Amino acid sequence: MIIICDLDRTLIPNGIDEYDQSLPVFYDLLSKIKDLTLVYATGRNLELFKEAEKDYGIKKPDYLLASVGTEVYQKNGNEMVVDDNWLSYLKEKQPNWNREEIVKDFDLLIENKKDQVFLQEDNVQNENKISYYLKNIEIKDEILGGFKKYLEEKNINAEVVYSYDPHKSVGLIDVLPHFATKLGAVNYLVQKLNADKENAIYCGDSGNDLLPLTAGFKAVLVKNASDEVKEEAKKIVQEKGFENKLYIAKGNEVLNGNYSSGVIEGLKYFGFLE
Ligand code: GLC
Ligand code: MG
Repeated sequence: MIIICDLDRTLIPNGIDEYDQSLPVFYDLLSKIKDLTLVYATGRNLELFKEAEKDYGIKKPDYLLASVGTEVYQKNGNEMVVDDNWLSYLKEKQPNWNREEIVKDFDLLIENKKDQVFLQEDNVQNENKISYYLKNIEIKDEILGGFKKYLEEKNINAEVVYSYDPHKSVGLIDVLPHFATKLGAVNYLVQKLNADKENAIYCGDSGNDLLPLTAGFKAVLVKNASDEVKEEAKKIVQEKGFENKLYIAKGNEVLNGNYSSGVIEGLKYFGFLE
């Protein structure tokens, strides 16, 4: 089976909600599963992933879908080795993706709002990932709408993914080639492993998890996810007829449903754990 987990505020308890110390319990339960492929799908790049390993005791996964799915790494001994095939696959799939041009044109679109929406740090950008901070979330729809309209008009097959960082109280916008999302990377991996979609489960909490959470995989939203994300996910699965594929953790006397507790609860619900 394949267990795919987001990191921040899904496995990593770095949110405002109470953490019940269940991460070691989670790893202990996983160690009893035979035939497990553990995957993390995260907004973090490799460098930030390594920080999470140090700061939170996160264990190395078999695969790391990093930078919102734009990079794929595979564990080899104690190293995470980049999967160059993923990058060449993306190039082949999206020959007309031109990062510089999009950044330049978006710059004009946001020209008079530069104190409210601006590019993230250079080290989190890459060829397939254009990421912005949105300081004033009141203009979220206007900004996302403007980006989407531009991409449509230019016939660029891309996704505009919105997440919210409650830690920094800031909106996060990732503009990605259509295939280079967390979902794209999950699909690629499932195919590469020749796995059955039914044996895969995706666990997450925020905006950049919505695509894989609502794509027909078994999916778990941890309890600490915002009401907004919960409602949005419910709405999408309802429209697609996948209601029975999405589980939202509730918490119980033993496990409070937040972070790794919610993941354990969801894995049990779908029979991935006893
Ligand atoms: C991580 C990345 C950031 C991205 C966010 C949401 O925090 O570092 O660039 O915008 O995830 O996907
Ligand atoms: Mg998260």
